[in-house]
Amino acid sequence: MPALRVSKTTKITPKGDIIFLADKLTGLKALSLSPAERNHLNNQFKDGKGSASCEQSGRLIMAHVLNGEDKRQKAENARKAGAGFLQKLNGLGRKEVLLTGSMRDASMLLDLAEGMVLANYQFKPYKTNKPDLNAMRKVKIVHQNVSSKGIGELNDVCNAVSEARDLVNRPLSHLNAVDLSKEIKRLGKEAGFKVEVFNKAKIKSLKMGGLLAVNYGSPDPPTFSIMEWKPKNAKNKKPILLVGKGVVYDTGGLSLKPTPNSMDMMKCDMAGSATMIGAMYAIAKQKLPLHVIGLIPATDNRPGLNAYAPGDVITMHDGQTVEVFNTDAEGRMILADAHSWGKRYKPELVIDAATLTGAAVRAIGLDGVVAMGTADDKDFRALEQAGEEVYERIAMMPFWEEYDRELDSDIADMKNLGGPYGGHITAGKFLARFVKDPYIHLDIAGPAFLPSSKGYRPKGGTGVGVRLIYRFLKNRVV
Ligand code: BES
Ligand code: ZN
Ligand code: ZN
Repeated sequence: MPALRVSKTTKITPKGDIIFLADKLTGLKALSLSPAERNHLNNQFKDGKGSASCEQSGRLIMAHVLNGEDKRQKAENARKAGAGFLQKLNGLGRKEVLLTGSMRDASMLLDLAEGMVLANYQFKPYKTNKPDLNAMRKVKIVHQNVSSKGIGELNDVCNAVSEARDLVNRPLSHLNAVDLSKEIKRLGKEAGFKVEVFNKAKIKSLKMGGLLAVNYGSPDPPTFSIMEWKPKNAKNKKPILLVGKGVVYDTGGLSLKPTPNSMDMMKCDMAGSATMIGAMYAIAKQKLPLHVIGLIPATDNRPGLNAYAPGDVITMHDGQTVEVFNTDAEGRMILADAHSWGKRYKPELVIDAATLTGAAVRAIGLDGVVAMGTADDKDFRALEQAGEEVYERIAMMPFWEEYDRELDSDIADMKNLGGPYGGHITAGKFLARFVKDPYIHLDIAGPAFLPSSKGYRPKGGTGVGVRLIYRFLKNRVV
């Protein structure tokens, strides 16, 4: 549960803190302020836009004048304003706030509230003495054009993001592959999607060679979890398939990552799985009329006694052989098996999410999601559109044949490594060799885990992709 819930109410109480949203400075007239208070407020705006606050006999009045060229920018600035107000309220130890406004587009109230809820996230299960730095608990929206349905959706989606962040933030000592599968079961129960988990024996009998190879060096068994949401009113005949990388910790294996630094954040290497688990949670909670299946292959990657080694040739689940050049390119090994298993569902569209390559981070940094694949242009346009709406933006990469050639091996069907350039794309090309249906590959290595907080995105696990996938799929059916 995120600590902060949004609800609706009908009255503006004379006491208590208020956030007021307006299209223009003149829209703030509806606030009853003394001339001095109004002056104090107005002086804080830049060009009559942005955020300001003043005190009125013990109550805090916060105002935001929508700022941006278009709806997308205004919405994002409203989210950021929400994060700023939230920080102020938490600083004062406040527990609730009223949110209202005179703006024409009431959805901006939801955007501002979303920024507050997402920013209020805190992760402290391992603090024995749990100081509550973020005391805020309630945002009450007063506006006739904001529906309870919209508010319910906001709460569910933010909850899904929060669950995804929790999963990413849990270290290996508290989240191995079996633990991850148990969390998937718990969330399936809570949201109403079906979960089946394959254990090591089952994975062996299915000959998932890639997943088993990465797991060889681990004392803990791998898991393969299958989630399914299949409502009676599904609008698609063939399911959407979501696949998430569940490397619960990535040491690099025998191709050990150099310390210090490059191993430090590698508890985040199951962020792709957290994205897809969170997306399933939101989809099921909101009962989207879509048949969706999610696959999560999970293991850690370690240089244990029997660890797979550079030079090894691995027979994958679909029978193709892979010559291992670098055991640190393990994500593609486990995802490939998930993809080849996924073919049985004959999906209309396959999407995967993975903290797959440092190359993706070097290419675009931490502010967007790297995307590529074989799906229709219209699917990529719709994905970009959803990305703009939720501000988890998409950076499209080329997917040329030349990248695929780099994977050719002398002694096996392919190598698990391409050349020195465009490593995020050769990684995508590797995966595409195991996918038959229209395919979107998302590399979230940059935005999945932040070294410091940025607006409503916290330090550590961000849950990136949950809102993106949910919005993309919702836009397909409503
Ligand atoms: N988990 C890493 C990728 C990663 C890097 C995630 C930075 C988050 C932040 C992945 O398994 C990996 O090690 N990739 C290698 C691939 C290389 C050996 C081809 C990389 O990007 O260096
Ligand atoms: Zn790796
Ligand atoms: Zn990895």
